[in-house]
Amino acid sequence: MSWFKIFTIFIAFSSVTIADDPCRYQTDKGVIDLSSLARTDNKPQYPDKVPAAGSGYSIEYSYNPCKSFTELPSCQGVAGCQVSTDGKYSFSIGKQESAKWNSGGIGGGHSVTYTDGPKTLVVTLVCVKNGTDELEALGEATTNNYKMRLTNKCACWNGCGGTPPTPPPPQRNCSIDGHEYTSDKEIIQSTLLDITINPSQLSPPTSSYAVVDKYGIVLELHLIGIDDIPSAFFCLQSLQVLSIIGCANLSIPSELLLLADTLTSFIVANISTPLTLPPELFNMTILSTLSIMNSNLTTLSEDIINLAQLTELTLDQNQLTSLPTALGKMASLKRLSVSNNLRLASLNALTGSKSLITLQGSHCIITDLPTNISSLSTIELNNNLLTSLDELNIIASNSTISMSFANNSINSISNDFFNNIQTIKYLDLSGNQLSKLPASIYPAKGFEILNLHNNSFGHQETEWVTGIFRPTNTTVIM
Ligand SMILES: *[C@@H]1O[C@H](CO)[C@@H](O)[C@H](O)[C@H]1NC(C)=O
Ligand SMILES: *[C@@H]1O[C@H](CO)[C@@H](O)[C@H](O)[C@H]1NC(C)=O
Ligand SMILES: *[C@@H]1O[C@H](CO)[C@@H](O)[C@H](O)[C@H]1NC(C)=O
Ligand SMILES: *[C@@H]1O[C@H](CO)[C@@H](O)[C@H](O)[C@H]1NC(C)=O
Ligand SMILES: *[C@@H]1O[C@H](CO)[C@@H](O)[C@H](O)[C@H]1NC(C)=O
Ligand SMILES: *[C@@H]1O[C@H](CO)[C@@H](O)[C@H](O)[C@H]1NC(C)=O
Ligand SMILES: *[C@@H]1O[C@H](CO)[C@@H](O)[C@H](O)[C@H]1NC(C)=O
Ligand SMILES: *[C@@H]1O[C@H](CO)[C@@H](O)[C@H](O)[C@H]1NC(C)=O
Ligand SMILES: *[C@@H]1O[C@H](CO)[C@@H](O)[C@H](O)[C@H]1NC(C)=O
Ligand SMILES: *[C@@H]1O[C@H](CO)[C@@H](O)[C@H](O)[C@H]1NC(C)=O
Ligand SMILES: *[C@@H]1O[C@H](CO)[C@@H](O)[C@H](O)[C@H]1NC(C)=O
Repeated sequence: MSWFKIFTIFIAFSSVTIADDPCRYQTDKGVIDLSSLARTDNKPQYPDKVPAAGSGYSIEYSYNPCKSFTELPSCQGVAGCQVSTDGKYSFSIGKQESAKWNSGGIGGGHSVTYTDGPKTLVVTLVCVKNGTDELEALGEATTNNYKMRLTNKCACWNGCGGTPPTPPPPQRNCSIDGHEYTSDKEIIQSTLLDITINPSQLSPPTSSYAVVDKYGIVLELHLIGIDDIPSAFFCLQSLQVLSIIGCANLSIPSELLLLADTLTSFIVANISTPLTLPPELFNMTILSTLSIMNSNLTTLSEDIINLAQLTELTLDQNQLTSLPTALGKMASLKRLSVSNNLRLASLNALTGSKSLITLQGSHCIITDLPTNISSLSTIELNNNLLTSLDELNIIASNSTISMSFANNSINSISNDFFNNIQTIKYLDLSGNQLSKLPASIYPAKGFEILNLHNNSFGHQETEWVTGIFRPTNTTVIM
């Protein structure tokens, strides 16, 4: 064998990088165990972090240590995600399965590095013992190189997980429909369904799967294309996430309530017969995420108020004609999406909400803006029937960062509107009928993107608007 050949083989071997355990890192200094920081419901523990000022466009970053998460549209099964503030775009910046630990050189702290294609994310771990739990997004240091800093006691050697966790108590027996089940394994196997256990690729799921922990406890169950939900599943004693996707004829059984002590996410999508929600759903009091999408849902009960811990509600692609006024009173509701409800004309039910941060309602027939929502940061009402933004000052505040009202019929904006908002970075008014802008728009400081394409501006107004923004860093699209 020639030297050249040996050399090539050596290169070939050394370039194979074997990923580390993304949850745990053990060296002679001790153990770093991030598992207690991980969310296990496919969501990021540290969502939508805005880098410190001066970092450029309206971009946020999300991160979940140890377990993969999904942030639509494009981050599926990732460790880190870059998201546009309006939620329209997202890009993976690293996958859990690529995790590599670095114990840190002289003076340097330890870190974990993730990659996805050309992108690299380095999360520096900062050990503190005073209870601080913080993730700072430090942005894109150089092209495709992203940095974050995680400050937590679990970033300390032996800070977390130093002693092995005690196994959970043995499962209770559970009887349903005349069968007694003694374990989650028995439940899953009794159904004879084809269910993948802990699939290595979480994205994109095409058949049913379950996430099971090392003690054999089923934490998540995702049922895809199954018409009859076996009642045995309601005996799963620690189920946190249940999704039911693509059933021809689904009726959600009242046994759902058996999961009430553990279920935090419930997702139903793509159901072809009109779906009715059982009253028991509204007794699932620890639910934090509820999604009912593309299921021909026509009404949502006021009983939703009972879901006191609900933070995220998605009702896209249904046949809703109104929303329950309870939504404006739910103190924990942060994110609501009602896009593609082609018969929904009003969002007035949301009036008075103090918690809502993100509101998406594109492709409806909304004619008026909702009012008095004090903490809205992102509002997206594209392709509706709005004719004026005269009332906009009632919802916009210094928390507003991104607003998108493309493809409506807006022909006026109140004069003093922009006086009250100093924080807006992204405003899309394309596809409307504006012929002038209020003078108050010009001093607005933080604009990054102002989209005015396809309006009714005359030549002079066009020149004025582009000219005034020319010396600034604002991108104006006319
Ligand atoms: C915790 O310690 C860090 C670093 O020593 C410090 O920056 C932070 O302010 C402290 N936080 C609290 C809540 O004491
Ligand atoms: C569960 O059922 C099994 C088999 O029927 C039985 O041996 C066991 O004692 C039961 N466990 C409990 C806690 O009831
Ligand atoms: C749906 O299921 C119910 C029973 O659960 C049945 O009565 C109904 O006929 C079914 N509808 C269709 C369209 O299959
Ligand atoms: C529902 O079906 C559509 C089209 O068939 C698909 O694009 C979408 O991903 C499905 N939704 C979910 C949540 O699987
Ligand atoms: C909803 O119902 C309509 C008829 O009312 C039907 O055409 C449509 O296919 C249904 N939607 C879904 C997702 O099945
Ligand atoms: C569901 O909640 C309602 C209202 O809080 C309560 O009256 C009812 O008893 C609950 N039902 C069950 C089965 O827990
Ligand atoms: C907005 O809410 C506040 C209290 O949260 C209330 O005092 C005020 O009247 C409301 N304004 C409108 C226009 O509803
Ligand atoms: C507005 O409508 C145009 C033309 O149909 C389309 O290209 C554009 O994507 C729409 N904008 C938004 C934000 O939906
Ligand atoms: C927003 O902040 C600016 C400057 O800090 C302030 O002048 C203005 O009153 C604030 N607007 C609201 C609605 O709080
Ligand atoms: C301009 O906006 C209107 C809606 O207001 C839309 O129908 C049309 O397709 C848009 N034209 C272009 C070129 O985007
Ligand atoms: C535009 O951005 C550059 C680089 O970020 C900055 O130095 C400059 O001050 C900004 N100009 C204005 C007018 O904000």
